[in-house]
Amino acid sequence: MAENNITKIPILGKESIIVGNNITDYIAKDVVSTVKASTYCIITDENVAMYHLENLENLLTKEASALGRRVLSYTIPAGELQKCRDTKAEIEDYLLSNKCTRDTCILALGGGVIGDLSGFVAATFMRGCSVIQIPTTLLAMVDSSIGGKTAIDVPGGKNIIGAFHQPTRIFIDPQYLTTLPLRQFLNGMGEVIKTAAFWSPEDFALLENNVEKILAFARNESQEAANIVQKIIQGAANTKAYVVTHDEKEGGLRGVLNFGHTIGHAIEAILAPVMYHGECISMGMVYEAEIARSMGILKDAAVGRLSRCIQAYGLPISINDPLVDRNTHGKQKEITVDRLMEIMKLDKKNRGTQKRIVIISDIGKLYEEKPTNVDDEVIINVLSPALKVNPVPESQKEEISMKVPGSKSISNRALILASLGQGKCKLQGLLLSDDTQVMLDALQYLGIKYFWEDNGDSLVIEGSNGQLQVPTSEIYLGNAGTASRFLTSVCTLISQAGSNTVLTGNARMKERPIGPLVEALNFNGCDIQFLGKNKSLPISIAHKGSKLQGGTIKLSASVSSQYVSSILMSAPYAQNPVTLELVGDNVVSQPYIDMTITMMKQFGIEVTRETNTNIYHIPAASYTNPETYIIEADATSATYPLAYAAITGSKITVENIGSDSLQGDSEFATKVLQPMGCIVSQTTHTTTVQGPARGQLKAIKIDMETMTDAFLTATVLAAVANGTTEITGISNQRVKECNRIEAMVTELAKFGVKASELEDGIKITGTPITSLKAPVNGVKCYDDHRIAMSFSILSLVVPEQVLIREKRCVEKTWPSWWDTLQNVLKVKLNGYDTSVEELKHLDKEVKVEQKQFIDSSIIIIGMRGVGKTSMGQFAAKFVGKKFVDMDWYFEQELKTTIKEYIPSKGWEQFRIEETRLLKKIIEENPNGLVISCGGGIVETEGGRSVLKQYASQGGIVLHLTRNIKDIVAYLSKDETRPSFAEDITAVWERRKKWFEECSSHEFYIYKDKKITEGRKWWIDVEIDFKRYLEFICANPSKYENKFPGNVYIPPASSYFLSLTYPDLNEAIPILDKASEGSDALELRVDLLANQDDDYVKEQVAILRRYSKLPIIFTVRTDGQGGRFPPTEVDRMFELLENGIKWGCEYVDVEVDVIGKNKEHRIELTKNLVKRKGNCKIIASYHDCSGTALWDPHTVASINTDTTKKGTDNSQKRLLRMRDKYMELLPYGDIIKLIGFAHKLQDNFALYTFVKEIIPSLGLQYKPVIAMNMGQIGQISRALNEFFTPVTHPILPFKAAPGQLSIQEINKIRSCIGLIPPKKYYLFGSPIAYSQSPTIHNTGFEVLGLPHKYELSESEEWTHVKKVVEDGIKDGSFGGASVTIPHKQNVIEHGIVQKVTDAAKAIGAVNTLMVEKDEEGNPIVAGDNTDYLGIKRCIEDRINKLLKPKDKFIGVVVGAGGTARAACYALNQIGVEKLLIWNRTQSKAEELAKIFGAEVVPNLGDCLKTETESNVCYAIVGTVPAAAQTNMNFTEFFDSNKKGVIVEMAYKPRRTPLLNAAVAAKDSQWETTEGVDVLIEQGLEQFIRWTGRIPPKSAISEQVYNRYSE
Ligand SMILES: NC(=O)c1ccc[n+]([C@@H]2O[C@H](COP(=O)([O-])OP(=O)(O)OC[C@H]3O[C@@H](n4cnc5c(N)ncnc54)[C@H](O)[C@@H]3O)[C@@H](O)[C@H]2O)c1
Ligand SMILES: [Zn+2]
Repeated sequence: MAENNITKIPILGKESIIVGNNITDYIAKDVVSTVKASTYCIITDENVAMYHLENLENLLTKEASALGRRVLSYTIPAGELQKCRDTKAEIEDYLLSNKCTRDTCILALGGGVIGDLSGFVAATFMRGCSVIQIPTTLLAMVDSSIGGKTAIDVPGGKNIIGAFHQPTRIFIDPQYLTTLPLRQFLNGMGEVIKTAAFWSPEDFALLENNVEKILAFARNESQEAANIVQKIIQGAANTKAYVVTHDEKEGGLRGVLNFGHTIGHAIEAILAPVMYHGECISMGMVYEAEIARSMGILKDAAVGRLSRCIQAYGLPISINDPLVDRNTHGKQKEITVDRLMEIMKLDKKNRGTQKRIVIISDIGKLYEEKPTNVDDEVIINVLSPALKVNPVPESQKEEISMKVPGSKSISNRALILASLGQGKCKLQGLLLSDDTQVMLDALQYLGIKYFWEDNGDSLVIEGSNGQLQVPTSEIYLGNAGTASRFLTSVCTLISQAGSNTVLTGNARMKERPIGPLVEALNFNGCDIQFLGKNKSLPISIAHKGSKLQGGTIKLSASVSSQYVSSILMSAPYAQNPVTLELVGDNVVSQPYIDMTITMMKQFGIEVTRETNTNIYHIPAASYTNPETYIIEADATSATYPLAYAAITGSKITVENIGSDSLQGDSEFATKVLQPMGCIVSQTTHTTTVQGPARGQLKAIKIDMETMTDAFLTATVLAAVANGTTEITGISNQRVKECNRIEAMVTELAKFGVKASELEDGIKITGTPITSLKAPVNGVKCYDDHRIAMSFSILSLVVPEQVLIREKRCVEKTWPSWWDTLQNVLKVKLNGYDTSVEELKHLDKEVKVEQKQFIDSSIIIIGMRGVGKTSMGQFAAKFVGKKFVDMDWYFEQELKTTIKEYIPSKGWEQFRIEETRLLKKIIEENPNGLVISCGGGIVETEGGRSVLKQYASQGGIVLHLTRNIKDIVAYLSKDETRPSFAEDITAVWERRKKWFEECSSHEFYIYKDKKITEGRKWWIDVEIDFKRYLEFICANPSKYENKFPGNVYIPPASSYFLSLTYPDLNEAIPILDKASEGSDALELRVDLLANQDDDYVKEQVAILRRYSKLPIIFTVRTDGQGGRFPPTEVDRMFELLENGIKWGCEYVDVEVDVIGKNKEHRIELTKNLVKRKGNCKIIASYHDCSGTALWDPHTVASINTDTTKKGTDNSQKRLLRMRDKYMELLPYGDIIKLIGFAHKLQDNFALYTFVKEIIPSLGLQYKPVIAMNMGQIGQISRALNEFFTPVTHPILPFKAAPGQLSIQEINKIRSCIGLIPPKKYYLFGSPIAYSQSPTIHNTGFEVLGLPHKYELSESEEWTHVKKVVEDGIKDGSFGGASVTIPHKQNVIEHGIVQKVTDAAKAIGAVNTLMVEKDEEGNPIVAGDNTDYLGIKRCIEDRINKLLKPKDKFIGVVVGAGGTARAACYALNQIGVEKLLIWNRTQSKAEELAKIFGAEVVPNLGDCLKTETESNVCYAIVGTVPAAAQTNMNFTEFFDSNKKGVIVEMAYKPRRTPLLNAAVAAKDSQWETTEGVDVLIEQGLEQFIRWTGRIPPKSAISEQVYNRYSE
């Protein structure tokens, strides 16, 4: 190894940092010669080992073995999680077991994790042994390996336990970085930029000017920058070494290393681990630089350079950076200023409560050689996304002279001219803003070179003389209008053939017009295509081997003068001299055109304008770059301080703009302010304005065409002027950042100022200052800097504080505007965190279920005759939308009938019109409709694309299907419709795939084989359809946290039943019984007799018809314990997508992101997840190899044999469930991991994994299904809590060996103490005959629960209180039923500490349950399930009777306690009207008042209040059977009516009310006996007590048996 490749950096007086490229052999030699150890032990992680261990180990072994010393290596898993006590102990055990002694030398080969951990091991092993750092990440090279800090993390925090232990050597070899993942590299760049930013202006310039090369090195694409990278690493390492040397243990200087860290750490505390350290401090640096700026220490240009450099390396600059959003999925929205301040309170650098921040005074320069004290207020102001402007007191009159940032227009033009020109050009006073930055970046893409001089104050451009290169990627221009217009022409000067350049921008930019410019250029022979919808960006400019032709170019210039300037500036480089002819009568912004021409002249090219025409001649020539070009101030920016003078009565001088200005807006002072009553004086280069006394401004009428951008400033002054101001000539302001005229009118209104839009201007009625109001929710800025700045001026005289939202939008032209306002113009500002209200707003949206269903329109497609109209109408009624049949719509829109239209215009024209109308109707009605389309809509490409587009944007395109034979049969019966010309089956065959590809959903109309045509069959279809619609259309928030038991974390275990039938028709008879206690049914598609779509969708339909349980759709592959061929990935995903389309509530996806074809699979998986809607994805992994490890700390086999050379690292990689978990996490709502138990301990490892390892990862919580297969794994099924797959004794066979039933699982759980036995009681008297013990004890027994339910009869409430309190004390009380006489007692005597809303409304409690209060102590809550029993019974039966057009009326007979529950239930169901009859009318009236009901005086009139025929009733009888004998129900039921009757009396089973209903002539009544309600309410109690679904069929069976006893 040549020594000249080596650089040594001194630290703490020794040259122990060694830097060099490719120096592994040097390392080996140097280590062995410097450290005389008996053993060298390399500690590394799996990722690093894979690439770098072998080489180092071999070389080291060679050197060491020659001297009889030994080499060991120990590999641990990668990641921050390993920096823990366990792993430290593991390494120590390893060293001890290998008999390592005090003279051992540890080599830390890896990133900061390995460095910190191994360093700490070395610090304490045998009271300290030597350590050598070989950092392999950039972060480790420049930071963690240097300084001697070592540490591990503990649950209480990061780096809490550790020691200072200086390494003997630190070897820095950039070659290690070539294998480092890009994001890790950039993470290190954060620290590199940091160091340069506070210490080294030279290194910073190096970073700024070599972005592309350094990134190419980072991506391992090129070694070109290897030297530069080594140089910057050396620079950063050097700095750290210097700082450490001068302050080893953190006195003061060492604190400066924490630039960006005070705020960065606070952000990291919230966003780690998804955001990396380097990324968080990147944001921190920008915020801290802004703090320096607001303290008046740092210049705007420096802040700009810093943030642009950070951004250039793909690092985020604020928490609103898209990078952050992408990585955190919106978690950054939780970052509030308060939270950050709270976290910063704990910063180690603080002195007491005083926060300390490293302040820089320039790039590469510290303000103090230690962190600086900064007041909270300053930090809050900078961090806040919005601010409040305080009024300037009338007495405060300032006299100020100041400079204003450079002109954006001149800056952008100068950049273009200098880039195209010949020779170097130094630009002074360049505006550094987003806009100019966008331009600079774009120019760099086009091959232009530039560098900074004068400490960032000047930019030197190396002119290209018109020679541009094709950019390597598309050019993103954000919302920078000028750049997009200017560059469009510039790009036509690229002369390489066969390539093209794409210019694109953000959403707003994509709406801003560029059409006339593109058309003019295309007319001149260019080939520019619009890639998007509008005549806007993105555009693609084809390069055909020659530059712009030249000659005559005609251009319409009535929208933007930028088009003109664009062509003018590029024109000299066209092949021929250009004559630019502006057409149209109205050329906007002539001053900007003049500015361009003047500047072109300054760069040596003279444009001539034909007098009195709009024709310009541009010679073919080159620009000659002036050596230095000084850019004048932005005249529009200057209007704000001048307006400040006008509105506050102060005197302001702007030093860098005067009468000589190129800019139209420079006349603002003389043409606007002077007439308004100000005293104005101007020199060629300065402007001074003295405002009149406050409130004395005068209204004016003015054409501002020559200074359109300044109209906003004039408008806010006019708002407080005396009289009405009219500003005209500004129509171009409608197409700026926003429609500015409209925006000004809207925002002024919020101040109480009247304004209105004129055709080309605005009219403002001046308002006295005293009547100005502060806008309630602040000023909205529309992301428009000018709106923000002008309203900040108006705010100065508003009596109260004014909130300006989105304060950062000023960055576009004047990033330090707020600092200027505060520091120079002496206005007090207060930061304000709008994100807090936005958070609250979010909360509200989630909590209040405003809309039950998503509001977007639903399109129904399918074959004719399938039932689109009737199902469509049904759906519309159900989801609360309006139904439209496309045929009707067609006839109505075209004022014809289809019958007439087709013979005259033909089918083809019909299809065209039909498609156009479909597009129209969904564009006009994106919400609120159910649209049924003709079956032929999919016949044309056009029709299909409308549907596909709608579906791809998240709209519902619902395909209705049904067995085609049924359709044929149905259509052949129907003679009213014109028949198909072709055979229906053939039409279906043709359209089938189109229907499939166009639809997002499919509902299959299932017809039970046993049932023939008729109404009954259709009722079942409607019930299925309701469930389907309810699921797919529900507002997603409704299903967000819906998991079994409707809770995120189940209170007890939840289960699903695996159905292993080849044909589910066989399962129908036993489905209810087999699924008792289960929360879902799993359809194992791979086990079905047939996997064709038609077959599978029928199986789904069967499950939906015969069970209410959600469906889990699973296609298990061969490799994971199923039968589906694992090679047929595409077909598998097709099936899974269908599972979603068919409305299955869960879809199981085997996620494999590392196996074969991983890209394709990831793509498929992502698409599936994107389309899931309300469906939950179970991301699953089944380890059939039986090798996956639950314990993440298990370590790979270790190579202890020093004689054996080389190790196969791929074999060392172990399969860890933790890694699988992290792989599955992004895709699943539920994560399923199935391993294998070889020994009983494997089950406990699994349990530890779920209970401890997963929570310790600190990742988003998702429910986990984790189990071990195999006989010995059985117990893991009892340990698993969420969605355990179960079998049932009556099923023919188990889905997997070792599978258990729910009863078996609960028995095991009880035995091992996971389910503490509870006692439940019935309180009341008399209760001897109660059915409740039967209900609950049957339920407990069937589910294998260890609980007991018993009678506790007493009339004394004190008895109830005692039983409850004793039971709570010893933990045995589980809950109770409450009946007469205690239903109110429990509330009145404080036996319950909490009452549910329902129980409150009903005024009675029938259920006691135990809940936890905020401190986790048990409390007794009272609920009322009586009403739920009633509600269930009605809902179960009403479906069959209630038709879409029916009026739904509730009737309650009686007015006692039960009647209250009945009223509440009927209101909950949503009856349109509620009627009450009671013998004592006054009691009925009391009730009616509470529940909004009407009283019917005569029992016989209850069903006669409605005159319409289509009425459906829900009647609840609450009168005891004995009292019913003398009631006349014959009259009550005397006419032809329909509905449901729920009888609450249950002795005897058939009461007079029920008998009368059955006997009534011609009527259709569904009746429910009291015992049914009793059972239903009992089941509800059971759910509340156990968190489980009760086995209803077994319970009902027992209750009915007892009844007949
Ligand atoms: N001691 C200090 O003064 C100090 C200073 C800063 C940070 N730190 C600590 O450093 C740690 C972060 O260090 P890090 O960012 O280097 O993380 P790291 O060690 O976890 O490495 C990042 C990832 O890159 C992989 N990797 C490392 N080198 C590689 C290579 N050459 N090729 C391919 N992959 C490679 C690793 O396996 C890991 O997955 C944190 O624990 C932090 O607390 C310590
Ligand atoms: Zn750091």
